[in-house]
Amino acid sequence: MRLGILISGRGSNFEAIANSIARGKLDAEIAIVISNRANAPGLDIARERGIPMRVIASAGLEREAYDKLLIDELRTHEVDLVCLAGFMRLLSANVIRAFPNRVLNIHPSLLPAFAGLDSQRQALEYGVRITGCTVHFVDEFLDSGPIIIQSAVPVLDGDTVESLSARILVQEHLIYSKAIGYIVDGRITVEGRRVSIREED
Ligand code: GRF
Repeated sequence: MRLGILISGRGSNFEAIANSIARGKLDAEIAIVISNRANAPGLDIARERGIPMRVIASAGLEREAYDKLLIDELRTHEVDLVCLAGFMRLLSANVIRAFPNRVLNIHPSLLPAFAGLDSQRQALEYGVRITGCTVHFVDEFLDSGPIIIQSAVPVLDGDTVESLSARILVQEHLIYSKAIGYIVDGRITVEGRRVSIREED
């Protein structure tokens, strides 16, 4: 399965996926990494590893115009599965239609709690004792779409946004590759909002 990974920043989830592939834990290939920001540190990771990458700058472009460039680039690289990994843009329905049930996202909270930006800060300020992360299919709404995997993470006394984010990130790196693996192995069925995962053969 050929992955297209979309980033805007650090790229640690992209790197974790690349590591899973390199270690033979995930049977996939990263066909292209696309960043909407030219200075995304994640691009250096792609460069160092010799993974094809491309900047498609989004500044000043209408959503539909941008998404057309995105779809063309993903098709050029024959991408089967699109993985958003810290990609800070909402996609239009065109992208979802071009890759039905083939666009994933990772979010640093237990959705539907704390959607949007700064989820770890939202969780701390709300005072929840448990938060976590979610891998879900993407639809045209923000942090919506059927949930594939969630991992719970405790909020500890004295946590800061940084300490909590770091604890969540460890889980993000585990569950993203796991969710991609389910898709690669054809184990997932989606009915409405509910995702079933078939037992391993
Ligand atoms: C992660 O916390 C992810 O859940 C969120 O954005 C952050 C991206 O981090 N969507 P990285 O660029 O993968 O390091």
